Amino acid sequence: MAFPERFSNLPDYAFPRLRKLLDAHAPGGEPIAMSIGEPKHPMPDFVAGILADNINGFGVYPPNDGTPGLLDAISGWIRRRYGVDISENRLMALNGTREGLFNAALALAPEVKGGKRPVMLMPNPFYQVYAVAALAAGAEPVYVPATAATGYLPDYAALPVEVLDRAVVAWICSPANPQGAVAPRDYLADLLDLAEKHDFRVFADECYSEIWREAPPPGLLDVAGLKGADPEKYAVFHSLSKRSNMPGLRSGFVATGPESMIRIRRLRSFAGAPLPLPLQLVAEACWRDEAHVAASLALYQNKYRMAAEVFSGQQGFRLPDGGMFLWLPVPETVGDGEAATLKLWQKTGVRVLPGAYLSRELGAENPGRDYIRVALVAPEEETQSGLIKLRDCLFG
Ligand SMILES: Cc1ncc(COP(=O)(O)O)c(C=O)c1O
Repeated sequence: MAFPERFSNLPDYAFPRLRKLLDAHAPGGEPIAMSIGEPKHPMPDFVAGILADNINGFGVYPPNDGTPGLLDAISGWIRRRYGVDISENRLMALNGTREGLFNAALALAPEVKGGKRPVMLMPNPFYQVYAVAALAAGAEPVYVPATAATGYLPDYAALPVEVLDRAVVAWICSPANPQGAVAPRDYLADLLDLAEKHDFRVFADECYSEIWREAPPPGLLDVAGLKGADPEKYAVFHSLSKRSNMPGLRSGFVATGPESMIRIRRLRSFAGAPLPLPLQLVAEACWRDEAHVAASLALYQNKYRMAAEVFSGQQGFRLPDGGMFLWLPVPETVGDGEAATLKLWQKTGVRVLPGAYLSRELGAENPGRDYIRVALVAPEEETQSGLIKLRDCLFG
């Protein structure tokens, strides 16, 4: 029996690869989890009460697009956060942004552009769903370096015109996973101009928007609103996984233009997995509340300070502008990111992720090969202990 050719070159997902690398080896100390971006800060205290009060909601099929209350809470949050009004026909609740990113690509990307197979532009390293979504939609992924040389953001404008003309989607992640770069307003505005000029859509993955070091990151909704950009030319994705420390709730949203939203809603009404009703009610309360978000942000900002102290004076160390990861270059003496990950596990029990698992080879170059990604998700004391062990083991 044959399998689809377009997925045949997919590598295993990052975490099975990590298990393969590490699990045959004993940890050198009490394990400290710094590999997966799974927030460990407290979830809001109102969650259990709402769930208990609405438990019967599991007995009905949930509304596909989101309850009116949830869409109202989301549009209220966008107004408070970005100062723009997004009507509810431009919003849809998602079962986590991962499926939303994937399904939006399927719903919105044409199969052919200018008589040719289209391309989707994505940063490299990147959140791996972008590539799989491109392949599923029949497009060719084009991996664009987002490295120290480009300020850790992809320089799409530098691509050949023939490539830009074939583009149907350009993905941007800000704050970026794994690099921690925040796209400035000018970068986003220029990207919207490029999209207009070459007739492609911008998909902005902003799930880390509420975790930042010095200032709240600008959002594409805000920049596009001020510019008066065509809302059909962009889609923006947000999540409660990071904002509200609820990765298991599986709740996010997409905002786009009304015509594009009709397409996404239609596809998802056949093939989507709507969020169960009690979870939509929890999500609504989360979007309406900022106190728990501020408390969690304070914990992350403390961890940034902690990391700055632990790595003070360390060559190549850079604090992220936002997000929950350190993106650390590995000293040459240790080898590459895989060697560093294995050494760290065997000597200390600290578990991180090799950068190469988040990036693709371009020619002989893999821009993530000499990096590790370190998630600052554990409680403060554990994070500090993990960072000190990491520094002493790899950089000592
Ligand atoms: C960059 C990025 N985008 C999207 C997601 C998906 O998040 P969720 O599906 O939990 O909303 C993640 C999760 O780690 C991520 O790192």
